[in-house]
Amino acid sequence: MKNKWNEGALYRNLVDGKWLESKSVMTIYSPLDDSVLGHVPAMTKEDVDQVFLAARKAFYKWRETTIEERAEIMYRAADILMDRIDELTQLLVVEIGKDRKSSKAEVERTADFIRFTADTAKNLSGESIPGDSFPGVKRNKISIVRREPLGVVVAISPFNYPINLAASKLAPGLMAGNTMVLKPASQGSICGLSLAKVFEEAGVPAGVLNTVTGKGSEIGDYVTTHKEVNFINFTGSTDVGTRISRITSMVPLLLELGGKDAAIVLADADLDLAAANIVAGGYSYSGQRCTAVKRILVLEEVADTLVEKIKERVEKLRVGNPLHQDVDIVPLISTKAADFVMELMEDANEKGASLLLGGKREGNLIYPTLFDHVTTDMRLAWEEPFGPVLPIIRVKTKEEAIEIANRSEYGLQSAVFTQNINDACQVAAALEVGTVQINNKTERGPDHFPFLGVKSSGLGTQGIRYSIESMSRPKAMVINIH
Ligand code: G3P
Repeated sequence: MKNKWNEGALYRNLVDGKWLESKSVMTIYSPLDDSVLGHVPAMTKEDVDQVFLAARKAFYKWRETTIEERAEIMYRAADILMDRIDELTQLLVVEIGKDRKSSKAEVERTADFIRFTADTAKNLSGESIPGDSFPGVKRNKISIVRREPLGVVVAISPFNYPINLAASKLAPGLMAGNTMVLKPASQGSICGLSLAKVFEEAGVPAGVLNTVTGKGSEIGDYVTTHKEVNFINFTGSTDVGTRISRITSMVPLLLELGGKDAAIVLADADLDLAAANIVAGGYSYSGQRCTAVKRILVLEEVADTLVEKIKERVEKLRVGNPLHQDVDIVPLISTKAADFVMELMEDANEKGASLLLGGKREGNLIYPTLFDHVTTDMRLAWEEPFGPVLPIIRVKTKEEAIEIANRSEYGLQSAVFTQNINDACQVAAALEVGTVQINNKTERGPDHFPFLGVKSSGLGTQGIRYSIESMSRPKAMVINIH
């Protein structure tokens, strides 16, 4: 069955409260069957200037709104999202090839995220600091600290969560009092524009939320280096994130980038729990998640048993087109993405890894693949496939596991499977990552937890309260009583 999206639809950008076309368009195709989903504006630099003019103009009024007024808009946006859950679920399936269950979960999670953000912002009070707590200062000085917005925030969202990872920037940014410019990934731009419509209908005033679609090669740098930008909140590849950090100056950044999350399995681990979490963490949405499990470091003495348990689970994964049936493994987002995964697998094969399952490709659909005896001279041990392939690296000691885990350029998350709390804490303390999951797969949620990457995995901290704080700043007013 071909996807039944309104193929010829022409989408528009939200600019200063109006839905505007551009002189030229980009055609968005479904990764499932290359059918035309619609056309989005290919904005020019002049169009981008109009967007920032609108955001700047609207900022001075928006920052004077009350937190309560902003929160009411967020609550309405969450309600509208849930009213549209079936339409948005179908859009996620056809635009990014996400399975239906995960697509529906993304919309529900986003509504919860937005509500929780509004609640959190209402309770984020400032502080007052008495001067006389410092030596020599009299009691007549008090500092009153409030949080203030930064101004115009650019939110750049990725293809793999085009609704959730756009809202996870928009909601905290808006609640902090900023005006927002959303630039969705091209594949996911219809989702991004649909989300903007939700916020507009919820009552976000003209110019407070604006969208930009267009070819990254033509306007990407222009957007991130625009003189009106006060903050950039980006989720995407390490290459693009590194470029943004290099070409922008004096603009604070929040970057969520790539990962090579290791699942470390110690000799006393519950191997059923480990296998279940490794398979769920490694293969959901075909591994197209920055927090996917992307390598297994397992103690030699339990490796054979663990491998068998993982294999049993991988063999049960349902593979196919999410338009036709409920599946776990879906086609990758592009031919380029699938080609890269195949490149890493060929390298592993050539260098002697044992292919236990998969290795097969049909178009952009890659069957779930499992390699054993992967060694550190193979690219698969270090590079991020963003595909359904897991390398098993056998180690002799937990120290060796820590050393290999930390040798990665990435530092997003790691998982440690053990039933010894001392080993868990000791390994967690030694790992150079943003988050260590004990006896669980690596994952971003729940969304009020801090979420950050170190090294090549990012800059700054997300998570609802952390995102509000990242997109705002303290402002002190010192009262001097005479
Ligand atoms: O790849 C995006 C990253 O945020 C993954 O999120 O929730 O799947 O762990 P999650």
